[in-house]
Amino acid sequence: MNTPKRYLITAALPYANGLKHIGHLAGAYLPADIYVRYLKAQKRDVVFVCGSDEHGTAIPIQATKEGTTAQAIIDKYHPIIEQNFKDLGIEFDIYHRTSDKLHHETASEFFKTLEGNGDLETKTSLQYFDEATNTFLADRYIKGTCPNCGHNEAFGDQCEKCGKSLSPEELINPVSTLSGNAPIKKETTHWYLPLNKHEAFLREWILNQHQNDWRPAVVGQCKSWIEGGLQPRAVTRDLDWGVKVPVAGGDGKVLYVWFDAPIGYISATKQWAINNNKDWQPYWKDADTKLVHFIGKDNIVFHCIIFPVMLKLHGNILPESVPANEFMNLEGDKMSTSRGWSIEMDDYINQWIKKENGGTGLADSLRFYLTSISPESKDSEFTWKGFQESVNGELVSIFANFVNRTWVLMHKLCNGKVPPIHPDLLDDEDKALLTTVQETKDKVTALLEQYKFREAQFEVIHLARIGNQYMQKKEPWILAKSLESDTTAQAKINNCMHGCLQLCANLSILINPFLPFTAKRMCHLMKVVDKMLDWENAGKFNLLKVGYTLRAPELLFRKIEDVEIEAQLAKLQSLLTTKNSTMDTATPQAESASEEKALKPEIVFDDFGKIDLRVGTILEAKKVEKADKLLELYVDLGFEKRTILSGIAMHFSPESLVGKQVVVVANLAPRKMRGIESKGMILLAEDAQGKLHFVQPQEVIASGSSIS
Ligand code: 2FM
Ligand code: ZN
Repeated sequence: MNTPKRYLITAALPYANGLKHIGHLAGAYLPADIYVRYLKAQKRDVVFVCGSDEHGTAIPIQATKEGTTAQAIIDKYHPIIEQNFKDLGIEFDIYHRTSDKLHHETASEFFKTLEGNGDLETKTSLQYFDEATNTFLADRYIKGTCPNCGHNEAFGDQCEKCGKSLSPEELINPVSTLSGNAPIKKETTHWYLPLNKHEAFLREWILNQHQNDWRPAVVGQCKSWIEGGLQPRAVTRDLDWGVKVPVAGGDGKVLYVWFDAPIGYISATKQWAINNNKDWQPYWKDADTKLVHFIGKDNIVFHCIIFPVMLKLHGNILPESVPANEFMNLEGDKMSTSRGWSIEMDDYINQWIKKENGGTGLADSLRFYLTSISPESKDSEFTWKGFQESVNGELVSIFANFVNRTWVLMHKLCNGKVPPIHPDLLDDEDKALLTTVQETKDKVTALLEQYKFREAQFEVIHLARIGNQYMQKKEPWILAKSLESDTTAQAKINNCMHGCLQLCANLSILINPFLPFTAKRMCHLMKVVDKMLDWENAGKFNLLKVGYTLRAPELLFRKIEDVEIEAQLAKLQSLLTTKNSTMDTATPQAESASEEKALKPEIVFDDFGKIDLRVGTILEAKKVEKADKLLELYVDLGFEKRTILSGIAMHFSPESLVGKQVVVVANLAPRKMRGIESKGMILLAEDAQGKLHFVQPQEVIASGSSIS
C-alpha cells in the first residue's frame, strides 16, 4: 500500500467508571502509542484520539456503589485516567469525553442522519421491567445463570466467567439487580440497526479484502459473527443516562452506549481540530486517510462489524486495520479490578514512578515489560517475577549497560568528546556495525508497520546486545594499557568509541516509540535536541559530531530488587484474599449497591451437590510473611492433612485458632498464593459490624465428617 496521506489512530475509549489496569494499558493504549510515536517520527500527518466513555450502565452502577451520582463518577475518574495515561507516556493528541456537548451534538446528528435516511428500523418488543423500581432493566441490571457455563452471576449482556455474549432472554432465572425481584416483561419501542442488511458488504470487506492483512483472531471473530447470522441490533435504550434519542418517540430513551461511544472518536477529532485550528473532515471522509482502531479483543464486534456499518451508512471512511490484542492475565488468573486481581495504572504510578520522581526509568520499565509480553496473538501473562527478570536482564544488563559503558569509557578514554574516526584503521567489525544498524532499522520499520510491537522491540534490544558484544571484542580498556607502546592504540580506541556512540544515538531513535522517556534522557546525555529522534536519522553514523562534548554518564534504569517484588506479590494476594473472604461469606458493608443485596440466583440440587464440605480441625496456624491479611493454616481433614490459606489475619491471632473446628470447602481447586499452595477454603460469616465468625459444628466431631 502507498503511504497514506494522513492517519487517524484511535484507542478504545475507557469507561470512566473506575481506575484502569495495566491489562487495559497493554491491550490498546500502549501499542497505539508506540505506533503513533513511530508515525510521528516518520513525520506523517497523524492524529491520535481517545477519551473517556462516560455513558452506559457502567457509570450509574458505579455511582450506586459509591453512593453518589453518575456525573460525580465521571468527573472523578476522567481526570485520573487522563493523568495516568500521561504519566505512563501515552501521548494522545486529544483525550476527550463523551459527556461533552460537542459529543452529544455529534452523536445526535449521526443518529438523525441514519434515521432520516431510513437506515434504522423501529420495533416494539417485550423487555424486562422491574416493577419495584418502575424501570426497564438495561442488560447490566439483570443477573441470572449463564446458559453456557452455569455461572450464577452472569449479566444480561455477558457472562464474565466464560466470556460469552448474552442477551437477557438467554439468562436462566433472571433477577433485577435493583430490587432483587424477578422482572416482568413489558412492551417498549426501540430503534435497530439492521445488520442483516449489510451482510454482503461485511463479507466482502472483511472476509475478502482483509482476510490476510488483519490478525487471524480478528477475522475469525468477525467470521463467526457473520456466519452465525447477523441480526438487527438495538441502538437505543430505556435509560436516563446518555445521549437523548433526538427524534420523536425518543422520550426517556438514550442512544445505546455502543452506538455513541465510537462516535466519540469523531467528536474527539472535531475537538482536536478546534483546539489546533485544523479541519477534522478529511480525517473521517477522505479515502487517503488511514484509520486504525487499537482495541482489546472484547471490542472486536463493535469496531469491525457495528461501527463500520454505521460509518458506511453515514458516508465516512472505514478502518484500514483493527489490531485487537488478546488479554493479559496476572499471575495465573484473569485480571479483574472488581475481584481485586489487578494492578491499576494509578497504583503502579504511585508506588513506583512517583516515589523516584520518574528519574530511574520506571515508567519505561513497565512499558518495556508489557510490550515484551504483548498479547498480540494469544493471551499472555504478567508476573512480577517476569517484570523483574525483564527489567534487570534486558533493560539494565543489556540496554542501559551498553549506554553506560559507552559513556564511562568515552569520558575516560576520549576526554568526554566524540572522538574522530581513523578510516585506515577501520576493520570489518567496525564497518559491520553500520550495516547491522541499517538492517535493524529496516526490520523494526517493517514490524511496526505490521503492528508486531513485541518483535520490533526485541530487535532494538538485540541491537544493544550486539553493541555490547562489539565493545567486548574490541576491549578499548585493554588497548588503553598499550598507548605508549602501540602508536595506533588511541586511533583504534577512537574508532571503537565513535562506533559505540553513534550506535547509542541510533538506539535512542529506534527505542523512542517504545521507551519515550528513555529516548529523551539519551538526547539529554548526547546534548542533542529531540529532533534527532526523527526516524530518517536511524541508520546514519554521523549523528554525533566529532569533537562534541557529551554529558557525564547517568544510569537509565535501575535494578528491581527481590524485596520489591515480594511486596507486590503480598499486596496482590492480600487484596484478593480480603475480597474473597468477604465475597465468599457475606456482602461487605461498604458495598451498599442494592445489587449486592440480591439473593444469588436459584441453583438446582446438583449444583449444591458438587461442593464437598467437610469438618476440619486446625492443627497449626501462622502468619504468612509480608502478607498482612494472610494466615497459613494446617488443617486435619481426617483422610488427609493439608495447608489452607485464609485472609483472616486481621481478625484472629494464629494462637487462638489451634484446635478449632471449621467447615472447609474440601474439593476447591488448589491455588498458589505467595508461593504457597492452598487446598480448600474455610467458611466464615460476617456480621453487620464486619466481624468474622467461623461456621462450626456445635460440638467437636471427627475431622473429615461430611456436611450435606
Ligand atoms: O470496553 C470498553 O471499555 C468500552 N468503553 C470501549 C469503547 S471503545 C469505543 F467505541 F469508544
Ligand atoms: Zn458463562
